[in-house]
Amino acid sequence: MKKPVIAIDGYSSTGKSSISKVIADKLDLIHLDTGALYRGVTWFALQHCADENGSINLDQLFSSLGQIELEFKNDEGELVLYLNHADISKQIRSNEVSDNVSLVAKQKEVRDFLLQSQRSLAEKGGIIMDGRDIGTVVLPNADFKFFLTASIDERTKRRYNELLSLGIEADEQQVKENLIERDKIDSEREIAPLKKADDAIVIDNTHLTKKETIEVMLSYIVKI
Ligand code: DC
Repeated sequence: MKKPVIAIDGYSSTGKSSISKVIADKLDLIHLDTGALYRGVTWFALQHCADENGSINLDQLFSSLGQIELEFKNDEGELVLYLNHADISKQIRSNEVSDNVSLVAKQKEVRDFLLQSQRSLAEKGGIIMDGRDIGTVVLPNADFKFFLTASIDERTKRRYNELLSLGIEADEQQVKENLIERDKIDSEREIAPLKKADDAIVIDNTHLTKKETIEVMLSYIVKI
């Protein structure tokens, strides 16, 4: 039997990636966190294409895209993102990256650069990909599509706790503002905006634990 292709989109900090990882393990699928790719490009831009105030020069980034090699490596079951052979898994979660990633992700040049590699990874099936435009643009023919949402206060709490667990200092109000701002830019951008695919199943997990969300999703995957 061919393994399924599953698309998971939704708002920031709805648990898309951690949920996808568990489902991937259960169903023996590859998991691709596409947000990490946009974060990787943003980290590169901050290192190589920004002025002393941390402001990114987009033209410089566009002409440097060919120098970017992003790769996931399996480190004891954890997929770790490497940029040009250096582990950047911690850096891509920094506030500096979170504050700039939506600006970088809304650029056509950047999206085109990342689109083909995402699609080719799904050609053989057996993959679960999470992001913002997976069901609408990257994998419109996915076998299963989900769209995750949750209240802003719940998402703020989750993101804040995630940062603390990574040892990154955070201010809860700032975390909330960053989420609101990022969702706004992601939803309103011209190219591949954050949007529910017409045929996606919507799950509001404000009052669901991660385990419960996974159970609901698995029930759909089994049923269809
Ligand atoms: O899922 P995340 O918070 O790590 O994603 C980081 C940013 O990347 C998010 O603000 C929007 C962007 N993104 C995107 O535009 N398209 C995707 N498929 C995944 C992420």
